[in-house]
Amino acid sequence: MSPSTDLCFAPLSAEFARDPYPFYAALRAREGLTYYQDFDVWLASRFTDVSRIVLDEHMVRSLEHIAGPEEIAAQKQAQNWHDMPHHSRFVQFSLLDSDGAVHDRLRKQVFKLFTPVMVGKLRDGIQAYVDTLFDSLDGRDEIDFIGDLAAHVPGHIIGRILGVPDEDCPQLRIWSENIVQFFDIDRSNERKELAERNTTEFYRYLLKLKAEREANPEDDLMSLMIEAERQGHMNHDEFISTAMLILMAGHGSTIDVLGSGMHALLKFPNEMLRLRADPGLMKTAVQEMFRYEAPLPFFHRYSTEDVEIGGRTFPRGTKFGVLYGSANRDPEQFPDADRFDAGRTPNWHIAFGRGAHFCLGNHLARLDMDIIFSTLLKRFGTIELAEDTVSYKRGLSVRGPQTLRIGWTAD
Ligand code: HEM
Repeated sequence: MSPSTDLCFAPLSAEFARDPYPFYAALRAREGLTYYQDFDVWLASRFTDVSRIVLDEHMVRSLEHIAGPEEIAAQKQAQNWHDMPHHSRFVQFSLLDSDGAVHDRLRKQVFKLFTPVMVGKLRDGIQAYVDTLFDSLDGRDEIDFIGDLAAHVPGHIIGRILGVPDEDCPQLRIWSENIVQFFDIDRSNERKELAERNTTEFYRYLLKLKAEREANPEDDLMSLMIEAERQGHMNHDEFISTAMLILMAGHGSTIDVLGSGMHALLKFPNEMLRLRADPGLMKTAVQEMFRYEAPLPFFHRYSTEDVEIGGRTFPRGTKFGVLYGSANRDPEQFPDADRFDAGRTPNWHIAFGRGAHFCLGNHLARLDMDIIFSTLLKRFGTIELAEDTVSYKRGLSVRGPQTLRIGWTAD
């Protein structure tokens, strides 16, 4: 196999953070998949290739299916992903990073709390919380949409599902961010130490909460998982890693898509007017926010056998990068793909992935978005951007604005 070397793909650059979509378009214009040496990965950028990979049962997330313990240890060392006892126990292993029977067993234990019916029951509680947040903004006519609003909602709601007391949720957000940051670009020892220390603190916190729920079960996910462990459906480490994953998975991503969704409405003011005039469009508008700026644009898979994609055979063990952010802008799948269309139908976007690992929290994320944007449009008059440029986070694995100052009139 002769990897291509002439690639102008710079996912860690400031230019990419500003606007990754021309880079993605250039990738899609190339034949087949593209080898990206820096990450040693074959990139799939077209919607059909991305879907094909994540729907293939011979594609897995965990290295264990294709490599022995020594090779895995060497790879971890090369990525500075080693010597992290708690991080490797509870973060590097998870429901998301397991496959086959282990994955199915773990997903089954928590799935029932995330169905549309169960999530729908949370609507009134989320609305009440969001109302108090908006009340706290009374008297102001300018805010940072991210820091003052978006950042407070997802962790708080997931915390409630899990059974974390409200007053502890801000701390969980900090732990969660400091652990997740180590998944992306900068694998320095300093960031590594922070990720391990915060995983340890998070672990101790969950141990304490678990002991409390064992003594006094409640109607929450923690109590449900305690019962699952008692019945032998998950072990202690799986319990902790699942609780951590659920608290972390929907945190940053929901904050990011709230920010980029708001930004999209500001960039396409006619779509915001359309949504104000017809609030029934909120469901399709939220779907479009996920398509337009997938907040988790990049994941990976390993092939467990030789596979043929785009006329080329890839050997067992090949690592593929699936670019959800690019697939969602593929004009072959979405007409006028770079346009934000609040009423886009159909809209089979892939921001939540597809196949075995399809996002567990997708209904919850959509409900959060629906409630926040519906409340925003009801409470605020004409909304405008109150900063000259909006800076997006750097990196390939996340997409979202760092801050987003908005102002409004009281029409
Ligand atoms: C903006 C919101 C969200 C986005 C864009 C998102 C996206 C994703 C994606 C793309 C995957 C699949 C990863 C892959 O293909 O390898 C995934 C998995 C997952 N998500 Fe989400 N997610 C969001 C919110 C949430 C929330 C709120 C929760 C909380 C419950 C959550 C929990 C999970 C879990 C547990 C998995 C692993 C599922 C499995 O492996 O079976 N996500 N998410």
